[in-house]
Amino acid sequence: RIHPVVLSGGSGSRLWPLSRAGYPKQFLPLAGENSMLQGTMQRVAGSQFAAPLMICNDEHRYVVAEQLRTAGITANRIILEPIGRNTAPAVAVAALTLLEQQEDALMLVLPSDHVIQNEPAFHAAIAQAEKAARQGHLVTFGITPNKPETGYGYIQQAEELSVSGVHKVARFVEKPDFDTAATYVASGEFLWNSGIFLFSAKQYLDELKAHHPKMVKACQAALELAENDLTFCRLNKEAFANSPSDSIDYAVMEKTTHAAVVPVDMNWSDLGAWSALWDITEKDSDGNASHGDVLLHNTRNSYVHADHALVAVTGLDDVIVVATDDAVLVANRDNAQDVKKIVDTLKEQG
Ligand code: GDD
Ligand code: MG
Repeated sequence: RIHPVVLSGGSGSRLWPLSRAGYPKQFLPLAGENSMLQGTMQRVAGSQFAAPLMICNDEHRYVVAEQLRTAGITANRIILEPIGRNTAPAVAVAALTLLEQQEDALMLVLPSDHVIQNEPAFHAAIAQAEKAARQGHLVTFGITPNKPETGYGYIQQAEELSVSGVHKVARFVEKPDFDTAATYVASGEFLWNSGIFLFSAKQYLDELKAHHPKMVKACQAALELAENDLTFCRLNKEAFANSPSDSIDYAVMEKTTHAAVVPVDMNWSDLGAWSALWDITEKDSDGNASHGDVLLHNTRNSYVHADHALVAVTGLDDVIVVATDDAVLVANRDNAQDVKKIVDTLKEQG
């Protein structure tokens, strides 16, 4: 069976004021009654999957445990990071843990902050990818791009492998600049990296040993010195801090010669910003999406979210309004990415 490995480390600052450092977006019921973390776990609850391994920030241990409990999911383990080192070490720790349990373990790496509306397509893609992963490929899942988004990885697909539906990767480029991204999208040869990966734990560690031996050593030490109790495995802070901080995309996927890609059309969305939430939410005849106690008049193509108080909008198009207990955000829908800058400013001001 495939071992799901769920990553939860981001702070989701572009979804402020709902998403907060102590309670980031993956824990919020933004696109339905479950949180994105719960949705992620439920997508891999079928019999072809083993119990998920969860790896998250130490500060979020109770939220994570509670969300698993209410979703009826028992984790393989919940590994806690006392300090963030980005995704490459997090995946390494997961790979080392799984290798101890099973020599030929296949791991499905899943971000906890995505929405996938077409689940059958997702499962079909995993079935195709499994064959290639067993042959030693590091398999990515590619999404057809529709704009030169610079926050994603780009995958240039080459010829099909012997496994149907799985292609070789000519090039993997993480977060190119805008002009480069525009060229990639126009060429028709590139896919977005969904951030989901399938590979054998051993293969991943071999790649990491070749390119970042210090990282593997630090992760091994952090596990050897970890504190374990019934629910959690807390990595040793000093040892883990010795690991270089890097993402799996830069540390491994840009460097490996064993990358493969399964192009998949699964209505995937990285709920990165409020505009993305507007994109995937059902809208009224004026193109408005709303949540809570909201009154709209002469307003079009807007997203309005009211947590407690009534929010009324009149005479505005293409706006985002989010009102919570202690903060109100008003933004142009085209500037939704800039919410991160507001959060940065707030952090500077303490
Ligand atoms: N446990 C853990 N520890 N998880 C982490 C950490 C960490 O230090 N840092 C990030 N994560 C989690 C995030 O919560 C998210 O679920 C996932 O790992 C990916 O991290 P992001 O920080 O959101 O990455 P990104 O969005 O910039 O880029 C990645 O995803 C894109 C698609 O959404 C890359 O894989 C891109 O290539 C890809 O296109
Ligand atoms: Mg992301």
